[in-house]
Amino acid sequence: MNNDPAKPQQRFEDLRGILRYVPQFRQRVFVIAFDGALMMQPGFASLLQDVAVLQSLNIEVVLVFGARAQVRMLAEKRGISLYNDDGMGRTDAAGIALEMPVAVSNALAVHPAGVIDGIDLEFTGRIERVDEESLRALLKADIIPILPPLGYDGKGATLRLNSDAVAVEVAIALQAAKVIFVAESGITAADGTRLEQLSVAEAKEMHKRKDSKHDVSMLSKLRYAALACQEGVPRVHIVDGTQDEALLAELFSNEGVGTMIHADDYQQIRKARASDVPALLSMMQQSVDDAALVPRTRDQIQSKIKDFFVLELDGNPIGSVAVHAYEEDGRKIAELACLFVRRSHKNKNHGRKLVAFAEEQARQRNCEIIVALSTQAFRFFEEKMGYTVTDPDALPLSRREKYDKSGRNSKVLVKALK
Ligand SMILES: CC(C)(COP(=O)(O)OP(=O)(O)OC[C@H]1O[C@@H](n2cnc3c(N)ncnc32)[C@H](O)[C@@H]1OP(=O)(O)O)[C@@H](O)C(=O)NCCC(=O)NCCS
Repeated sequence: MNNDPAKPQQRFEDLRGILRYVPQFRQRVFVIAFDGALMMQPGFASLLQDVAVLQSLNIEVVLVFGARAQVRMLAEKRGISLYNDDGMGRTDAAGIALEMPVAVSNALAVHPAGVIDGIDLEFTGRIERVDEESLRALLKADIIPILPPLGYDGKGATLRLNSDAVAVEVAIALQAAKVIFVAESGITAADGTRLEQLSVAEAKEMHKRKDSKHDVSMLSKLRYAALACQEGVPRVHIVDGTQDEALLAELFSNEGVGTMIHADDYQQIRKARASDVPALLSMMQQSVDDAALVPRTRDQIQSKIKDFFVLELDGNPIGSVAVHAYEEDGRKIAELACLFVRRSHKNKNHGRKLVAFAEEQARQRNCEIIVALSTQAFRFFEEKMGYTVTDPDALPLSRREKYDKSGRNSKVLVKALK
């Protein structure tokens, strides 16, 4: 019997924390890539159970596995010396023969990697195309597709692939929300502490430096993590699969247990699409109610959708900004409008980033100055972004008329764009 009154409450708090993530993950694709070595460890059964938990939450899981450890083991057993065991260097006929015992799927169209730096890579392949349709059909039927680090070329030859490359190509094709590399170890800083987050630039830099602290397998993950983010996968996680519950703890806790690689900040701000209009309207409603933003109708946003940008985190819009351009007497003036950050995400620099992004957009459109109207955030513009309060006359004529009509008496802020 549990006599500790604190315990059940603790569990409910945990549950609440976990459930918070469920709606945003539902129906999203997660590509999970296991290092082959993990399959030979006692904890592997629990890892698979954790994958089943994810599927039960309606997350669409695709599994990819590596085979480096198995290939090494078999090579040793059969007395074969390998050129390469990570699916990137040369794979000879003996090497590919060792790969064959694993299950093969045909969701990948591959070509031989060819001759690189004068070396014929023979049975090493390059992914040409992912059969997105067949994978989606499996996911729709609640079946977890499992992809080995192998593919067939047009002539039916089996070619060795790097499992990290498989995971990332599949994630890009399926527009996955995440790639999770469940590795044999985690990524640590020089002082041995866990590196919680890396930007794309940092991951690329680490891969380039080829720090001896990271083995080929980790360097490959860093390289492919950066590629995934650049191609639109918002988050890549690298977790130490030898740690108990690493997979679930990384996904369902604020602090995580692994390393998250995220797209560079500007890449999180994207052009708004027509399908964003309902989300934009509902997001802005709070500020409209507080009279911080002018109410806008669906049609007003829709007709100017090209001027709108959305700040997205984990695939969810959490902020917006619009840049309208005016031309008057041969002078181009930009107006920053609709700046908004969801209450739950305030004070995390998102507002500053959106303003900086809008200014960059205005520069690209050859605007000399940028103006913003604000009733409640003028101090933010002044103190954090270097704007000055000015006279409404600074507004372009057509905008000035609208300003007078609105009766909102907003402060007019201006900044010169260099
Ligand atoms: C203004 C707004 C976009 C700022 O977003 P944010 O993501 O919280 O901003 P940041 O995290 O980049 O900056 C936060 C800093 O700005 C300050 N700040 C935020 N709003 C402010 C305001 N209305 N007045 C003065 N300072 C403000 C914060 O105190 C914080 O200061 P600190 O860094 O010294 O602690 C956000 O509060 C918002 O959406 N407001 C409602 C809509 C609105 O007023 N839009 C402007 C009309 S164009």
